[in-house]
Amino acid sequence: MAPPDPAGAHPTLPEPLSRRIFRKFLLMLCSLLTSLYVFYCLAERCQTLSRPVVGLSGGGEEAGPGRSVPAGGLGELAAWPAAARKKRLLQVQPWRKHRPPAPHGDGEEAAWEEEPPGLAGSPGGSGAGSSVAEPPPGTLALLLDEGSKQLPQAIIIGVKKGGTRALLEFLRVHPDVRAVGAEPHFFDRSYDKGLAWYRDLMPRTLDGQITMEKTPSYFVTREAPARISAMSKATKLIVVVRDPVTRAVSDYTQTLSKRPDIPTFESLTFRNRSAGLIDTSWSAIQIGLYAKHLEHWLRHFPLRQMLFVSGERLIRDPAGELGRVQDFLGLKRIISDKHFYFNQTKGFPCLKKAEGSGRPHCLGKTKGRPHPEIEREVLRRLRDFYRPFNRKFYQMTGQDFGWDG
Ligand SMILES: *[C@@H]1O[C@H](CO)[C@@H](O)[C@H](O)[C@H]1NC(C)=O
Ligand SMILES: *[C@@H]1O[C@H](CO)[C@@H](O)[C@H](O)[C@H]1NC(C)=O
Repeated sequence: MAPPDPAGAHPTLPEPLSRRIFRKFLLMLCSLLTSLYVFYCLAERCQTLSRPVVGLSGGGEEAGPGRSVPAGGLGELAAWPAAARKKRLLQVQPWRKHRPPAPHGDGEEAAWEEEPPGLAGSPGGSGAGSSVAEPPPGTLALLLDEGSKQLPQAIIIGVKKGGTRALLEFLRVHPDVRAVGAEPHFFDRSYDKGLAWYRDLMPRTLDGQITMEKTPSYFVTREAPARISAMSKATKLIVVVRDPVTRAVSDYTQTLSKRPDIPTFESLTFRNRSAGLIDTSWSAIQIGLYAKHLEHWLRHFPLRQMLFVSGERLIRDPAGELGRVQDFLGLKRIISDKHFYFNQTKGFPCLKKAEGSGRPHCLGKTKGRPHPEIEREVLRRLRDFYRPFNRKFYQMTGQDFGWDG
Protein backbone atom coordinates (compact mmCIF):
# COMPACT_ATOMS: atom_id res chain seq x y z
CA MET A 1 0.00 0.00 0.00
CA ALA A 2 1.22 3.47 -0.84
CA PRO A 3 2.19 5.70 2.06
CA PRO A 4 -0.26 8.47 2.89
CA ASP A 5 0.16 11.24 0.42
CA PRO A 6 -0.85 14.61 1.80
CA ALA A 7 -0.83 16.14 -1.64
CA GLY A 8 -3.43 13.64 -2.73
CA ALA A 9 -1.80 13.14 -6.07
CA HIS A 10 -3.00 9.62 -6.72
CA PRO A 11 -6.71 9.17 -7.25
CA THR A 12 -6.69 5.63 -5.83
CA LEU A 13 -9.17 4.23 -3.35
CA PRO A 14 -7.24 4.41 -0.05
CA GLU A 15 -6.57 8.12 -0.63
CA PRO A 16 -9.68 9.64 0.92
CA LEU A 17 -9.02 7.81 4.18
CA SER A 18 -5.43 9.00 4.54
CA ARG A 19 -6.51 12.45 3.55
CA ARG A 20 -9.08 12.50 6.34
CA ILE A 21 -6.45 11.41 8.79
CA PHE A 22 -4.15 14.07 7.57
CA ARG A 23 -6.83 16.72 7.89
CA LYS A 24 -7.58 15.64 11.44
CA PHE A 25 -3.94 15.79 12.25
CA LEU A 26 -3.73 19.33 10.88
CA LEU A 27 -6.73 20.36 12.93
CA MET A 28 -5.18 18.95 16.08
CA LEU A 29 -1.95 20.71 15.35
CA CYS A 30 -3.76 24.00 14.86
CA SER A 31 -5.66 23.76 18.11
CA LEU A 32 -2.50 22.78 19.93
CA LEU A 33 -0.71 25.83 18.61
CA THR A 34 -3.66 28.06 19.41
CA SER A 35 -3.79 26.87 23.00
CA LEU A 36 -0.06 27.30 23.30
CA TYR A 37 -0.48 30.86 22.11
CA VAL A 38 -3.28 31.48 24.59
CA PHE A 39 -1.12 30.15 27.41
CA TYR A 40 1.65 32.36 26.24
CA CYS A 41 -0.67 35.36 26.43
CA LEU A 42 -1.98 34.37 29.83
CA ALA A 43 1.59 34.48 30.98
CA GLU A 44 1.44 38.13 29.89
CA ARG A 45 4.14 37.72 27.34
CA CYS A 46 2.29 38.06 24.08
CA GLN A 47 2.35 41.83 24.36
CA THR A 48 6.02 41.57 23.62
CA LEU A 49 5.26 40.30 20.15
CA SER A 50 4.98 43.31 17.98
CA ARG A 51 2.56 41.78 15.51
CA PRO A 52 -0.15 39.15 15.79
CA VAL A 53 1.29 35.91 14.66
CA VAL A 54 -1.66 33.53 14.68
CA GLY A 55 -2.43 34.07 11.05
CA LEU A 56 0.86 32.71 9.87
CA SER A 57 0.70 29.22 8.53
CA GLY A 58 4.10 28.17 9.78
CA GLY A 59 2.86 27.87 13.34
CA GLY A 60 2.50 30.66 15.81
CA GLU A 61 5.47 30.99 18.04
CA GLU A 62 8.33 30.75 15.65
CA ALA A 63 6.94 33.60 13.64
CA GLY A 64 7.78 36.23 16.23
CA PRO A 65 11.49 35.63 16.47
CA GLY A 66 11.53 34.82 12.81
CA ARG A 67 11.33 38.47 12.12
CA SER A 68 14.37 39.26 14.12
CA VAL A 69 16.74 37.05 12.20
CA PRO A 70 17.32 38.20 8.68
CA ALA A 71 16.76 36.08 5.67
CA GLY A 72 16.73 32.77 7.48
CA GLY A 73 14.03 30.28 6.68
CA LEU A 74 11.61 29.41 9.42
CA GLY A 75 12.95 25.90 9.47
CA GLU A 76 16.38 27.06 10.43
CA LEU A 77 14.98 29.46 12.95
CA ALA A 78 12.89 26.85 14.64
CA ALA A 79 16.05 25.47 16.17
CA TRP A 80 16.73 28.77 17.90
CA PRO A 81 13.41 30.34 18.67
CA ALA A 82 14.20 31.08 22.27
CA ALA A 83 17.54 32.70 21.60
CA ALA A 84 16.17 34.70 18.73
CA ARG A 85 13.27 35.94 20.80
CA LYS A 86 15.58 36.91 23.61
CA LYS A 87 17.66 38.85 21.19
CA ARG A 88 14.66 40.63 19.85
CA LEU A 89 13.65 41.67 23.32
CA LEU A 90 17.08 42.86 24.08
CA GLN A 91 18.02 44.63 20.96
CA VAL A 92 16.28 47.95 21.35
CA GLN A 93 17.93 49.53 24.31
CA PRO A 94 21.60 48.84 23.66
CA TRP A 95 21.38 50.26 20.16
CA ARG A 96 19.63 53.28 21.45
CA LYS A 97 22.28 53.64 24.03
CA HIS A 98 25.36 53.20 21.89
CA ARG A 99 24.37 54.51 18.53
CA PRO A 100 23.63 58.11 19.42
CA PRO A 101 26.17 60.82 18.82
CA ALA A 102 29.59 60.93 20.38
CA PRO A 103 29.17 58.01 22.71
CA HIS A 104 32.62 57.89 24.20
CA GLY A 105 34.71 60.96 24.55
CA ASP A 106 36.84 62.24 21.74
CA GLY A 107 36.80 58.97 19.92
CA GLU A 108 33.75 59.39 17.80
CA GLU A 109 35.56 60.20 14.64
CA ALA A 110 37.75 57.17 14.92
CA ALA A 111 34.89 55.14 16.25
CA TRP A 112 32.97 55.50 13.04
CA GLU A 113 35.84 55.65 10.65
CA GLU A 114 35.02 52.40 8.99
CA GLU A 115 31.37 53.18 8.74
CA PRO A 116 30.07 53.46 5.23
CA PRO A 117 27.33 56.05 4.80
CA GLY A 118 24.56 53.51 4.64
CA LEU A 119 25.41 52.16 8.04
CA ALA A 120 26.18 55.08 10.26
CA GLY A 121 27.63 57.72 8.04
CA SER A 122 25.81 60.09 10.26
CA PRO A 123 26.68 59.09 13.77
CA GLY A 124 23.67 61.12 14.77
CA GLY A 125 21.69 57.99 14.22
CA SER A 126 19.86 58.26 10.93
CA GLY A 127 21.70 55.21 9.69
CA ALA A 128 21.38 51.77 11.14
CA GLY A 129 20.48 53.22 14.50
CA SER A 130 17.10 54.33 13.36
CA SER A 131 16.36 51.31 11.26
CA VAL A 132 17.20 49.02 14.09
CA ALA A 133 14.94 50.90 16.42
CA GLU A 134 12.15 50.27 13.96
CA PRO A 135 10.39 47.51 15.87
CA PRO A 136 8.06 49.41 18.21
CA PRO A 137 10.08 50.01 21.36
CA GLY A 138 7.44 50.70 24.01
CA THR A 139 7.14 47.84 26.44
CA LEU A 140 10.09 45.97 25.03
CA ALA A 141 12.56 48.08 26.93
CA LEU A 142 10.72 47.47 30.17
CA LEU A 143 11.35 43.78 29.93
CA LEU A 144 15.08 44.24 29.91
CA ASP A 145 15.45 43.20 33.51
CA GLU A 146 16.24 39.89 31.94
CA GLY A 147 19.86 39.45 31.12
CA SER A 148 22.89 41.27 32.36
CA LYS A 149 25.93 43.05 31.06
CA GLN A 150 29.03 40.95 30.71
CA LEU A 151 32.59 41.76 29.82
CA PRO A 152 33.24 40.65 26.25
CA GLN A 153 34.25 37.02 25.73
CA ALA A 154 35.50 37.83 22.24
CA ILE A 155 37.03 40.97 20.78
CA ILE A 156 37.80 41.96 17.21
CA ILE A 157 41.17 43.59 17.85
CA GLY A 158 42.16 44.65 14.35
CA VAL A 159 43.14 45.81 11.92
CA LYS A 160 42.13 49.26 10.81
CA LYS A 161 40.78 49.18 7.25
CA GLY A 162 40.90 45.39 7.33
CA GLY A 163 37.14 44.83 7.28
CA THR A 164 36.37 44.75 11.00
CA ARG A 165 33.13 46.68 10.63
CA ALA A 166 31.91 44.30 7.96
CA LEU A 167 32.77 41.29 10.09
CA LEU A 168 30.96 42.63 13.13
CA GLU A 169 27.87 43.60 11.14
CA PHE A 170 27.77 40.12 9.60
CA LEU A 171 28.23 38.49 13.02
CA ARG A 172 25.37 40.49 14.49
CA VAL A 173 23.03 38.43 12.35
CA HIS A 174 23.67 35.56 14.73
CA PRO A 175 21.06 35.38 17.50
CA ASP A 176 23.71 34.44 20.04
CA VAL A 177 25.99 37.38 19.35
CA ARG A 178 25.48 40.72 21.06
CA ALA A 179 27.89 43.50 20.25
CA VAL A 180 28.59 47.11 21.05
CA GLY A 181 27.81 49.33 18.08
CA ALA A 182 30.60 51.88 18.48
CA GLU A 183 34.26 51.24 19.16
CA PRO A 184 34.84 51.45 22.91
CA HIS A 185 38.63 52.08 22.68
CA PHE A 186 38.87 50.88 26.25
CA PHE A 187 42.19 49.04 26.17
CA ASP A 188 43.99 51.83 24.36
CA ARG A 189 42.43 55.14 25.38
CA SER A 190 40.13 54.65 28.33
CA TYR A 191 41.78 51.95 30.40
CA ASP A 192 41.93 54.20 33.45
CA LYS A 193 38.14 54.29 33.56
CA GLY A 194 38.14 50.73 34.82
CA LEU A 195 36.44 47.49 33.95
CA ALA A 196 33.12 48.48 35.51
CA TRP A 197 32.87 51.40 33.09
CA TYR A 198 33.79 49.08 30.25
CA ARG A 199 31.20 46.50 31.23
CA ASP A 200 28.55 49.16 31.40
CA LEU A 201 29.05 49.87 27.69
CA MET A 202 28.12 46.31 26.84
CA PRO A 203 24.67 45.23 25.75
CA ARG A 204 22.69 42.92 27.99
CA THR A 205 23.00 39.25 27.29
CA LEU A 206 21.37 36.04 28.40
CA ASP A 207 22.96 32.68 29.04
CA GLY A 208 24.54 31.32 25.92
CA GLN A 209 24.93 34.67 24.22
CA ILE A 210 28.36 36.05 23.48
CA THR A 211 29.28 39.66 24.20
CA MET A 212 31.58 41.24 21.63
CA GLU A 213 33.17 44.52 20.73
CA LYS A 214 35.58 45.70 18.07
CA THR A 215 38.32 48.29 18.27
CA PRO A 216 40.85 47.89 15.46
CA SER A 217 43.57 49.92 17.16
CA TYR A 218 44.00 47.29 19.91
CA PHE A 219 46.10 45.16 17.58
CA VAL A 220 48.81 47.82 17.36
CA THR A 221 48.57 49.00 20.97
CA ARG A 222 51.52 47.79 22.97
CA GLU A 223 49.66 47.59 26.28
CA ALA A 224 46.53 45.91 24.93
CA PRO A 225 47.61 42.23 25.11
CA ALA A 226 48.51 42.39 28.81
CA ARG A 227 45.41 44.41 29.63
CA ILE A 228 43.02 42.08 27.86
CA SER A 229 44.75 39.10 29.41
CA ALA A 230 44.33 40.72 32.83
CA MET A 231 40.60 41.00 32.17
CA SER A 232 40.40 37.35 31.15
CA LYS A 233 43.00 34.95 29.87
CA ALA A 234 40.22 33.15 28.04
CA THR A 235 39.25 36.08 25.83
CA LYS A 236 39.00 35.08 22.19
CA LEU A 237 40.69 37.43 19.78
CA ILE A 238 39.80 37.98 16.15
CA VAL A 239 42.08 39.83 13.73
CA VAL A 240 40.88 40.77 10.27
CA VAL A 241 43.95 41.26 8.10
CA ARG A 242 44.35 42.47 4.56
CA ASP A 243 47.22 42.99 2.14
CA PRO A 244 49.31 45.62 3.98
CA VAL A 245 49.91 47.63 0.80
CA THR A 246 46.25 48.03 -0.14
CA ARG A 247 45.50 48.55 3.53
CA ALA A 248 48.00 51.42 3.68
CA VAL A 249 46.51 53.06 0.58
CA SER A 250 43.01 52.68 1.98
CA ASP A 251 44.13 54.12 5.30
CA TYR A 252 45.73 57.10 3.56
CA THR A 253 42.67 57.64 1.37
CA GLN A 254 40.46 57.83 4.40
CA THR A 255 42.71 60.37 6.09
CA LEU A 256 42.91 62.36 2.87
CA SER A 257 39.13 62.58 2.67
CA LYS A 258 39.07 64.24 6.08
CA ARG A 259 42.18 66.35 5.70
CA PRO A 260 42.74 67.14 2.03
CA ASP A 261 45.89 69.14 2.76
CA ILE A 262 48.11 66.27 3.91
CA PRO A 263 51.26 65.44 1.89
CA THR A 264 51.17 62.85 -0.89
CA PHE A 265 51.24 59.14 -0.16
CA GLU A 266 54.64 58.92 -1.83
CA SER A 267 56.25 61.59 0.30
CA LEU A 268 54.89 60.09 3.51
CA THR A 269 56.05 56.61 2.58
CA PHE A 270 59.75 57.39 2.37
CA ARG A 271 62.15 58.76 4.88
CA ASN A 272 64.64 59.16 2.05
CA ARG A 273 63.28 58.16 -1.29
CA SER A 274 66.55 58.02 -3.21
CA ALA A 275 67.96 55.74 -0.55
CA GLY A 276 64.74 53.72 -0.59
CA LEU A 277 64.24 54.22 3.12
CA ILE A 278 60.64 53.47 4.11
CA ASP A 279 59.25 55.46 6.98
CA THR A 280 58.06 52.73 9.32
CA SER A 281 56.99 55.29 11.89
CA TRP A 282 54.13 56.42 9.63
CA SER A 283 51.09 54.65 11.03
CA ALA A 284 49.76 53.70 7.59
CA ILE A 285 52.95 51.67 7.07
CA GLN A 286 53.45 50.59 10.65
CA ILE A 287 50.05 48.96 11.12
CA GLY A 288 50.80 46.53 8.26
CA LEU A 289 53.78 44.96 10.05
CA TYR A 290 51.46 42.21 11.27
CA ALA A 291 54.20 39.80 12.34
CA LYS A 292 55.74 42.40 14.64
CA HIS A 293 52.46 43.22 16.33
CA LEU A 294 51.49 39.58 16.63
CA GLU A 295 54.67 38.83 18.58
CA HIS A 296 53.38 40.99 21.43
CA TRP A 297 50.06 39.18 21.50
CA LEU A 298 51.65 35.75 21.52
CA ARG A 299 53.42 36.64 24.74
CA HIS A 300 50.03 36.79 26.44
CA PHE A 301 47.76 34.54 24.40
CA PRO A 302 48.18 31.12 22.83
CA LEU A 303 47.73 31.06 19.07
CA ARG A 304 44.64 28.85 19.36
CA GLN A 305 42.83 31.71 21.08
CA MET A 306 43.34 33.93 18.05
CA LEU A 307 41.56 33.75 14.74
CA PHE A 308 42.90 35.45 11.64
CA VAL A 309 40.26 36.41 9.14
CA SER A 310 41.25 37.30 5.60
CA GLY A 311 39.79 40.67 4.70
CA GLU A 312 39.98 39.70 1.03
CA ARG A 313 38.05 36.46 1.55
CA LEU A 314 35.52 38.24 3.74
CA ILE A 315 34.52 40.18 0.61
CA ARG A 316 34.84 37.29 -1.87
CA ASP A 317 33.24 34.63 0.26
CA PRO A 318 31.63 36.16 3.35
CA ALA A 319 29.74 32.99 4.26
CA GLY A 320 32.93 30.92 4.13
CA GLU A 321 34.82 33.23 6.46
CA LEU A 322 31.80 33.55 8.72
CA GLY A 323 31.72 29.77 8.98
CA ARG A 324 35.24 29.79 10.40
CA VAL A 325 34.39 32.61 12.79
CA GLN A 326 31.27 30.90 14.09
CA ASP A 327 33.25 27.70 14.69
CA PHE A 328 35.96 29.64 16.49
CA LEU A 329 33.40 31.30 18.75
CA GLY A 330 31.72 27.98 19.46
CA LEU A 331 28.50 29.13 17.80
CA LYS A 332 26.11 27.06 15.81
CA ARG A 333 26.60 27.80 12.10
CA ILE A 334 23.61 29.97 11.38
CA ILE A 335 25.03 32.67 9.14
CA SER A 336 25.39 31.19 5.67
CA ASP A 337 25.22 31.95 1.96
CA LYS A 338 21.51 32.59 2.33
CA HIS A 339 22.18 35.79 4.22
CA PHE A 340 24.25 37.49 1.55
CA TYR A 341 23.99 38.81 -1.94
CA PHE A 342 26.67 40.52 -3.94
CA ASN A 343 26.17 44.08 -5.13
CA GLN A 344 28.05 44.29 -8.43
CA THR A 345 27.91 48.07 -8.55
CA LYS A 346 29.45 48.38 -5.16
CA GLY A 347 31.71 45.39 -5.46
CA PHE A 348 30.77 44.34 -1.94
CA PRO A 349 28.62 41.71 -0.33
CA CYS A 350 25.43 42.90 1.30
CA LEU A 351 23.26 41.41 3.98
CA LYS A 352 19.80 40.64 2.66
CA LYS A 353 18.34 42.02 5.83
CA ALA A 354 20.26 43.81 8.49
CA GLU A 355 19.86 42.63 12.03
CA GLY A 356 16.74 44.09 13.55
CA SER A 357 15.51 45.75 10.39
CA GLY A 358 13.88 44.33 7.33
CA ARG A 359 16.00 46.22 4.87
CA PRO A 360 19.01 45.13 2.88
CA HIS A 361 22.22 46.40 4.25
CA CYS A 362 25.38 46.94 2.28
CA LEU A 363 28.88 47.60 3.41
CA GLY A 364 31.81 48.83 1.49
CA LYS A 365 33.68 51.78 0.21
CA THR A 366 32.14 55.17 0.27
CA LYS A 367 31.00 55.71 -3.24
CA GLY A 368 32.79 58.55 -4.93
CA ARG A 369 35.64 58.77 -2.46
CA PRO A 370 38.51 59.51 -4.86
CA HIS A 371 41.27 56.98 -4.69
CA PRO A 372 44.50 58.83 -5.27
CA GLU A 373 46.68 57.54 -8.05
CA ILE A 374 49.76 56.10 -6.36
CA GLU A 375 52.97 55.71 -8.37
CA ARG A 376 53.44 52.06 -9.32
CA GLU A 377 57.10 52.23 -8.44
CA VAL A 378 56.18 53.22 -4.89
CA LEU A 379 53.70 50.38 -4.58
CA ARG A 380 56.30 47.95 -5.90
CA ARG A 381 58.83 49.12 -3.33
CA LEU A 382 56.25 48.77 -0.60
CA ARG A 383 55.50 45.21 -1.72
CA ASP A 384 59.20 44.38 -1.50
CA PHE A 385 59.34 45.98 1.89
CA TYR A 386 56.43 44.00 3.30
CA ARG A 387 57.30 40.63 1.74
CA PRO A 388 59.53 39.30 4.54
CA PHE A 389 57.09 40.50 7.19
CA ASN A 390 54.23 38.81 5.38
CA ARG A 391 56.17 35.54 5.13
CA LYS A 392 56.88 35.67 8.81
CA PHE A 393 53.22 36.32 9.50
CA TYR A 394 52.15 33.33 7.37
CA GLN A 395 54.61 31.21 9.32
CA MET A 396 53.42 32.39 12.69
CA THR A 397 49.74 31.92 11.90
CA GLY A 398 50.07 28.83 9.73
CA GLN A 399 47.94 30.57 7.10
CA ASP A 400 48.98 31.82 3.67
CA PHE A 401 47.01 34.95 2.86
CA GLY A 402 48.36 35.10 -0.67
CA TRP A 403 49.35 38.77 -0.69
CA ASP A 404 52.60 38.17 -2.52
CA GLY A 405 51.32 35.66 -5.04
C1 LIG B 1 69.22 60.27 1.14
O1 LIG B 1 70.03 59.20 0.69
C2 LIG B 1 71.03 59.58 -0.21
C3 LIG B 1 71.69 58.32 -0.74
O2 LIG B 1 71.93 57.39 0.29
C4 LIG B 1 72.03 60.50 0.54
O3 LIG B 1 73.02 60.89 -0.32
C5 LIG B 1 71.25 61.71 1.04
O4 LIG B 1 72.10 62.52 1.81
C6 LIG B 1 70.07 61.30 1.88
N1 LIG B 1 69.27 62.46 2.17
C7 LIG B 1 68.85 62.77 3.38
C8 LIG B 1 68.01 63.99 3.52
O5 LIG B 1 69.09 62.07 4.37
C1 LIG C 1 24.10 48.38 -5.09
O1 LIG C 1 24.92 49.49 -4.80
C2 LIG C 1 24.57 50.67 -5.47
C3 LIG C 1 25.65 51.69 -5.24
O2 LIG C 1 25.94 51.86 -3.90
C4 LIG C 1 23.19 51.12 -4.99
O3 LIG C 1 22.81 52.31 -5.62
C5 LIG C 1 22.20 50.01 -5.29
O4 LIG C 1 20.94 50.36 -4.76
C6 LIG C 1 22.66 48.69 -4.69
N1 LIG C 1 21.78 47.64 -5.15
C7 LIG C 1 21.33 46.70 -4.37
C8 LIG C 1 20.44 45.68 -4.99
O5 LIG C 1 21.62 46.64 -3.20
